[in-house]
Amino acid sequence: MSLDDVLARIDHDLPAATDRLLELLRIPSISTDPAFKADCDRAADWLVADLKSMGVDAEKRATPGHPMVVGHVGEGKPHLLFYGHYDVQPVDPLNLWDRDPFDPAIEDTDKGRVIRGRGAADDKGQLMTIIEALRAWKEVKGDWPCRITFFLEGEEESGSPSLVPFMEENAEELKADVAMICDTGLFESKTPAIVTMLRGLLGEELTVTAPSKDLHSGMYGGIAMNPIRALSKVIASLHDDEGRITIPGFYDGVPDLPEDLEAQWQGLAFDHAAFLGDVGLSKPAGEQDRTPLEMIWSRPTCEVNGIWGGYTGDGFKTVLPSEAHAKISFRLVGTQDPLAIRENFRKMVTEMLPEDCTVEFSGHGASQASGAEIDHPMFEPARKALSDEWQVPAAYIGCGGSIPIAGHFQKILGTEPMLVGFGKDDDQIHSPNEKYDMESFHKGIRSWARILDALT
Ligand code: BES
Ligand code: MN
Ligand code: MN
Repeated sequence: MSLDDVLARIDHDLPAATDRLLELLRIPSISTDPAFKADCDRAADWLVADLKSMGVDAEKRATPGHPMVVGHVGEGKPHLLFYGHYDVQPVDPLNLWDRDPFDPAIEDTDKGRVIRGRGAADDKGQLMTIIEALRAWKEVKGDWPCRITFFLEGEEESGSPSLVPFMEENAEELKADVAMICDTGLFESKTPAIVTMLRGLLGEELTVTAPSKDLHSGMYGGIAMNPIRALSKVIASLHDDEGRITIPGFYDGVPDLPEDLEAQWQGLAFDHAAFLGDVGLSKPAGEQDRTPLEMIWSRPTCEVNGIWGGYTGDGFKTVLPSEAHAKISFRLVGTQDPLAIRENFRKMVTEMLPEDCTVEFSGHGASQASGAEIDHPMFEPARKALSDEWQVPAAYIGCGGSIPIAGHFQKILGTEPMLVGFGKDDDQIHSPNEKYDMESFHKGIRSWARILDALT
C-alpha cells in the first residue's frame, strides 16, 4: 500500500474525522478557569479513548494541574514525538460570538467551509490532524510508520505550569529524534510553513496605590496624588517616539537578523498593508527602523494588555481612586533574559513613581525565545512533503506567538522541535467566533501523512 492509498483513505474518512473533532470541541476544556477542571479531565479521557481505539498504548497522567495524555506505539527509527494541547482559551466576551462556543458547527462562508467553535484552530483541530493522519496510515498499511510518542498537554493556555517538572521526571520516556509541534500557522493563509523562530513571553501585573481609600475628586482633587495619573505616565514612557522600548538593558541579547534570513524573508513579500487592513489598521506601529516582518517575528515587544482603576461603569462618578492596575506583557527574542528584564522593569517603574505612590508586582510566566535547527536532517524532507501537498514551496518563517515547550524540548530532552501547523491569520484564535478552515483540517491531515512518508 502506498502513500496515495493513505491519502485516498484520508479523503474518504474526512466526514468521520470531522465528527470526531466536533465531539472533542464540545468539551469546554478551559484550563485557566477552575470551574472547568472536570471538563479538562474529560477532554483528556476523550483523547485517551480515541488513541486507544486506534491501538495506541495511551494513558492519562496526573500532574498537580490538568493531566497530560501520553501514548506510545510502533517501533523503529526515527522516534517521532507529537505535541499538541487540548486546553482552550476562555470564551469571553460571549456576546460577540454568533453561536455557543462549545456547540461547534460546520459553516459555509464566502471564503469556504469552516469548523466554528472555541479550540477549532487552537489547538484541537490542529492536534487532531496528526491523530487522523496516523489513524489512516495504520488502517491502510496495517502497521505504524516508526516509533511514535503522543504528548498532549492540558495547560498550554495557562502557561504550562506542570510541563517542565513532568518533562524532567519522564525525560527518558519522552526523548525522541524530533518533536513535532502542531500549534502554528500557514504563511499568509496559503503557503505551508515550518516555524524556525518563536518569541518568548514575560507577563507582569502591577497595582499602584496612592490614597489609602477612594476619595471625592472635588474634595481632594488637586491636592491628592491620583494613582491612575502616575501609572499612565509610567506606561506612556515605556516606548519612545520611534517605538523603541526604554527599559534599561532591554535590548541586551537581541540579535541582528542574520543576512541569509533577511534575504529569505524579503523573498516572502509580506503584504503588511493587507495584514493590517484586515484589522482596520494601516501603519506599522513598532520600531520605525524595522520591517513589518521583523516587528512580528524577530523584534521584542512591550504591550499593555489591560489597564483599569477608578469608576468604569455606566454614567459618571467623580472619584479619585485609591488604586490603578495594569497587565503588561513582553515578547522576547534571541537570548533576552526574562528574569533580568522583569527586575529592570520593576526597578524602572518603582523609581519613576512619584512620592506617596506604592506599587506591587506579580509575575505571570517568564519564557525565553526559542528557535529550531533547520540544518537537522529531517527539515528539508518535511519541507518538501509540505510543498507537495500545498503545491507551493513551503517557507521557513518566524512566529510572533509563544510556544515555550519548543525550548523545553531542546533544553530538557535534547530533542529538536519542528513546528508545523495549518492555522490561518483570520482564524480568530483566542477571540470570539474562532474557526478552523476545512481546508486546513483536510490538507493538514494529508500533510502529516506525507511528512511521515518522507521521514520513514
Ligand atoms: N498556538 C498559540 C501560539 C501561536 C499564536 C502560534 C499565534 C501561532 C500564531 C498558543 O496556544 C498560545 O496562545 N500561546 C500564548 C502563550 C501562552 C503562555 C498563553 C501566546 O502566544 O500568547
Ligand atoms: Mn496553541
Ligand atoms: Mn493559544
